[in-house]
Amino acid sequence: MNTAPFSQRIIDWYRQFGRTTLPWQQHKTPYKVWISEIMLQQTQVATVIPYFERFMARFESVTALANADIDEVLHHWTGLGYYARARNLHKAAVIIRDKYHGEFPTQFDEVVALPGIGRSTAGAILSLASGQHHAILDGNVKRVLARHHAVAGWPGLPKVEQQLWQLADNLSPAEHIDQYNQAMMDIGATLCTRSKPACERCPVAFDCQAQRQGRQKDFPEKKPKKTIPVKNGFLLVLRQQQHEQQQVLLQQRPPAGIWGGLWCFPEFSTEAELKAAAAKINAAASLHPLPAFRHTFSHFHFDIQPVLLNIAAADNAFSETMLMPQAGNAVMEAKATLWYNLTQPSRVGLAAATERIIASLQTASIKELE
Ligand code: ADE
Repeated sequence: MNTAPFSQRIIDWYRQFGRTTLPWQQHKTPYKVWISEIMLQQTQVATVIPYFERFMARFESVTALANADIDEVLHHWTGLGYYARARNLHKAAVIIRDKYHGEFPTQFDEVVALPGIGRSTAGAILSLASGQHHAILDGNVKRVLARHHAVAGWPGLPKVEQQLWQLADNLSPAEHIDQYNQAMMDIGATLCTRSKPACERCPVAFDCQAQRQGRQKDFPEKKPKKTIPVKNGFLLVLRQQQHEQQQVLLQQRPPAGIWGGLWCFPEFSTEAELKAAAAKINAAASLHPLPAFRHTFSHFHFDIQPVLLNIAAADNAFSETMLMPQAGNAVMEAKATLWYNLTQPSRVGLAAATERIIASLQTASIKELE
């Protein structure tokens, strides 16, 4: 039994099992660590790796990111979800370019003041990139600490969170904080998982309260459940095909509201409205329902019925006009429309639902959908 202090056992584990070959761990810079931390906030390491590599290849510095068009940043985020993260990255890059001459700030107060960076992320960036002494408390670390010390209550409650921060501060070692913080995140992500904790491999299992009591499932406590409403929407998938090329009509969503600023199929709240718009574009064409699906946002479920309308190139100019907001389209104040070529995608950010429908058009044979 290893009875060394908590932080020592964590660091020893890191030296033996920790990941050291991830792309953001090579030639570390605060910029690389920042981008990786933001990508890793809601997404697993294996998914993040190719996104990180493409992002770095395109935006090689804070200034390159600040100078880029937000649409292109969102394009590089397509598929990662939680697009506020990409918007905040871009906003923060502009601030760093203008206020800090493009150099990522080194003071905690300056870092935590940037958009999209909270106390834990600021601590992670400065400790991992520069070895500064800051505690961290992301979702994974909360789970490890809540179990180890059997901390009762949902961590979203300020009182519980405060207790966890206190523990995080008290347990942080004076030395090797970078290895300790990285190890805590890795242990949370790979051993101390939500549903199947691998306690037999955990370096701090023997004095873990939850493990001792066989109550790993009880910590951290879950958020009190609330039922969320279900909304319905109909998306018009206007498609034209020429010379083996498929193009679909997308509209940019207004900045406020769901999928703000992303590109989406024209949305209607009822089937009748969709049919009326389709009839104006081509009264004779028939509509084909595509598979319906549910997309869940934090505050509601959205049941989506996509409907395909194949049109001839001659209807093209007409359809764009018919789908402008004044023509009764449910998406008010849509900024722009675009014919999106499935084989040569435009460099814009797609809403998750758009991406899913486009993927289904790419895999289904064209014949099947006609
Ligand atoms: N989640 C957030 N940051 C992380 C990191 N640096 N390593 C692994 N998982 C993480």
